[in-house]
Amino acid sequence: MREIRTVACVGAGVIGGGWAAHFLARGFRVHAWDPAPDAEEKLRTLIDRAWPALTEIGLAEGASRDALTVFGTLAAAVEGADFVQESGPEKLPAKRRLLADIDAAAGQNVVVASSTSGYGMTEMQADARTPGRLVVGHPFNPPYLIPLVEVVGGELTEPWAVAEAAAFYRRVGKSVITMDRELPGFIANRLQEALWREALHMVANGEATVEQIDTAITEGPGLRWPAQGPCLTFHLAGGEGGMAHMLDHFGPSLRSPWTRLTAPELTGELRDAMVSGCAEEAGERSIAELVAERDRAIIAVRRAVAQARDRGSR
Ligand SMILES: NC(=O)c1ccc[n+]([C@@H]2O[C@H](COP(=O)([O-])OP(=O)(O)OC[C@H]3O[C@@H](n4cnc5c(N)ncnc54)[C@H](O)[C@@H]3O)[C@@H](O)[C@H]2O)c1
Repeated sequence: MREIRTVACVGAGVIGGGWAAHFLARGFRVHAWDPAPDAEEKLRTLIDRAWPALTEIGLAEGASRDALTVFGTLAAAVEGADFVQESGPEKLPAKRRLLADIDAAAGQNVVVASSTSGYGMTEMQADARTPGRLVVGHPFNPPYLIPLVEVVGGELTEPWAVAEAAAFYRRVGKSVITMDRELPGFIANRLQEALWREALHMVANGEATVEQIDTAITEGPGLRWPAQGPCLTFHLAGGEGGMAHMLDHFGPSLRSPWTRLTAPELTGELRDAMVSGCAEEAGERSIAELVAERDRAIIAVRRAVAQARDRGSR
């Protein structure tokens, strides 16, 4: 694997700037390019604002904001880079053009990752000369604090590029999900979007206020999610019977009008996949151990949020 010392951030808005802050904090040199006339000023401001949080988390040895260079052309920013993170506007023709331009300027075998929120790499890599090195590396805002990156290639992406991107992100402290197949919106945005669409339906129909929706999440299920995802959460909702009991007991409510999303048919195959998936995820941990783990995490999150609010109001 190529040794990565310099990362090019192409597009330096909210996400490109957040990536730049993250890579700088991990001790890398960052080359940035963004065509907006005020981009450099905005980028440096974003990094300055992120730096206290990054310092609190812990900077890598030698990490410095001085390791940022903003270039006047895309080619100059990309030429000397060992990894490229593209974070330009979310418009398909623009992504295609930009990725083709980056591909033309980047060194041989340099992996180029796109921050796209939902396009498949197959549709974005169409105009590139060497599409095999193009991957999606989808972060969450702010990329310097939220660990998740979803990595997936397109039809023309070569497996080594997906593996190198995933390995690099892990090296810089990210939690990586490598997806075997393309899926619009990837995994996390699909889940987030389902919730978001239902929230919009409820507001549009006058069924709940914006504040009620936010409170329902922050004071309710949102507190469990940092500890355990929706599947293990419902595994525990089944008590000692776990996911199997939960599905057998609450399966019929999939037919209740609880959401505008049409529920999938609860086939035997889906039931088995959910039950065995939870068993695999739980591993050696019993239901009682999972409950204790979740409760500790919820208390820690509640304390942390209360402390952060308290500090903000002082
Ligand atoms: N905002 C989020 O929460 C979020 C989360 C994950 C992924 N993303 C994705 O990250 C990408 C960037 O989104 P953002 O929120 O940072 O948008 P943004 O509008 O804050 O930043 C986009 C930047 O791209 C620059 N730009 C315009 N034309 C360009 C070009 N031809 N080449 C390079 N840069 C160009 C703009 O000047 C701007 O600074 C998008 O693909 C978006 O879907 C966004």
